Amino acid sequence: MSDLVRLSISLESDLAAELDRLVERSRYENRSEYVRDLIRAQLVDEEWQEGHEVLGTITLIYDHHQNGLSDKLNTLQHEHHASVLASTHVHLDHHLCAEMIMLRGLPDILRGLTDDMRKLKGVLHAALAFSSTGHSLRKPGKHSHAHS
Ligand code: NI
Repeated sequence: MSDLVRLSISLESDLAAELDRLVERSRYENRSEYVRDLIRAQLVDEEWQEGHEVLGTITLIYDHHQNGLSDKLNTLQHEHHASVLASTHVHLDHHLCAEMIMLRGLPDILRGLTDDMRKLKGVLHAALAFSSTGHSLRKPGKHSHAHS
């Protein structure tokens, strides 16, 4: 990498020890790689906070014997067809289904859809995983926002 910049940072010794523990626990090769990914995670966090277009995945666990639930979940996905990229359904056992729904859109819309699904009777768990379209991650040192 030609645009590599070397930084020197100051940390209290106990905090530095914590950093090394985290690096090791997370199976990183070195501190630099760990810190790179910390920065990227913060950039993704910022995208969600500032309302950029983001990528997210809803994981649902629900009881498919619940009356009308499958239809309601299907209807919600149709209403959000512009945001729903793909979904995968797994039959966990005789009663329970798991569904992973991959989404691309504005954070409020993705959060709203997750909340609407979570509220339905028979949905036991609805989790939204926060990710990114990747635009801000390609060159972490050259991240630029159009703040509007
Ligand atoms: Ni199923």
